[in-house]
Amino acid sequence: MYLYPRAHKSSYQRGQALGGARCGYIVRNAGREDLDQVFLIELGSFDSPYPRWYFDILYELSNGGKYFLVSVDENGHIDGYIVALQRRGGICHIVSIAVRKDCRRQHVASILLQSLFELCDVLRPRLYILEVDIRNMGAQVLYAKHGFGYAGLIPNYYGNERHALVMVKLPAWKC
Ligand SMILES: CC(C)(COP(=O)(O)OP(=O)(O)OC[C@H]1O[C@@H](n2cnc3c(N)ncnc32)[C@H](O)[C@@H]1OP(=O)(O)O)[C@@H](O)C(=O)NCCC(=O)NCCS
Repeated sequence: MYLYPRAHKSSYQRGQALGGARCGYIVRNAGREDLDQVFLIELGSFDSPYPRWYFDILYELSNGGKYFLVSVDENGHIDGYIVALQRRGGICHIVSIAVRKDCRRQHVASILLQSLFELCDVLRPRLYILEVDIRNMGAQVLYAKHGFGYAGLIPNYYGNERHALVMVKLPAWKC
């Protein structure tokens, strides 16, 4: 299946958004009605964002939102999302993660990743896998902190001279 690439605290403490609301207050499954807010985060996060309609497809492909999680701030606004697809051979593919700008560096992405691992580990996946822009050092540090290691490079994945690194992680039950 082709998914097109883009350039670019469970045990963690919650952070604070600009308006004072706590970020990452709740993590829950996304509903269709959340996808417009998710798309706004997408627009604020990537040079070449996915189009709005693509989130409808991702929603369906992620088992009707089962592996599409959103984090919500104390005021009920979505402040981050993560979406993963279950691939053949027991591979859990993290397709996208992004956090609203005013909630970054407050461990929202960490909460989302941990929540996804908890959800997916039940399926006993063989591997978690993702692609990340070689220039996106912040995301690479985040993934490394969550147990991902480098597994390869895909030249020109995001366009001419815009390479992707492939990062993988063994699930907890295999470690
Ligand atoms: C990458 C992204 C999802 C991180 O979200 P976040 O909620 O800020 O991440 P966290 O707060 O959970 O970060 C956990 C740790 O990862 C590392 N980290 C995260 N963002 C970082 C950055 N920009 N620079 C350096 N380290 C970073 C830090 O070690 C951080 O811990 P610390 O803040 O205690 O030092 C967010 O910056 C984002 O949405 N970026 C745009 C979209 C994107 O690049 N998505 C990834 C595509 S592969």
